[in-house]
Amino acid sequence: MKFFVDTADTAEIADLAATGLLDGVTTNPSLIAKSGRDFMEVTKEICGLVHGPVSAEVIALDHEGMMREAEKLRKIADNVCIKVPLTIDGLKTCKKLSGDGTMVNVTLCFSANQALLAAKAGATFISPFVGRHDDNGFDGMGLISDIRLIYDNYSFATEILVASVRHGIHVLESAKIGADVMTAPPAVIKGLFKHVLTDKGIEGFLADWAKTGQTL
Ligand code: G3P
Repeated sequence: MKFFVDTADTAEIADLAATGLLDGVTTNPSLIAKSGRDFMEVTKEICGLVHGPVSAEVIALDHEGMMREAEKLRKIADNVCIKVPLTIDGLKTCKKLSGDGTMVNVTLCFSANQALLAAKAGATFISPFVGRHDDNGFDGMGLISDIRLIYDNYSFATEILVASVRHGIHVLESAKIGADVMTAPPAVIKGLFKHVLTDKGIEGFLADWAKTGQTL
């Protein structure tokens, strides 16, 4: 399963990229606002920090407007992935861009039928929001299972990018279901490295090593 980080914080991205485990980045208008930086400038910087896809989201709601914005965004770098909302105009834009060989991430997916439409529109990635789905009393991971089943039934190439990931259990369940990608905030990814018994084990080994009086 590929790991993307869901942030526009370039220091956090650089930090995670240094582990060699980061496969891409997702941003959205809320994350750009949180960064306090210019959209085009920060997106360009992020594209230079990772080799994999960097999702940059259009703001326009109509197809023509989305195409205009996508034209500007895809000039930033080869690894820009245009993010469009799951609406009729969004999927029209997806169909056009993917036909031209541009990567497209269809976002704000909350149903398996929406995911089916995105795959038919040639999306590179579909982003079902599991955390927001759970928040509203639905089964986020059940949605991922349904999409996996449908995509496998028809051998769709669209990758399932699990978004709105809130904790390690979402990551674990995504991997068990066979999602292609998950995107999570930096803190959630960093939390995956941690285990109380790992810390305790290191502490014990170091204490015993000190007793040997040796150096390495
Ligand atoms: O980038 C889209 C998605 O991951 C947003 O997550 O936590 O705002 O629901 P969240």
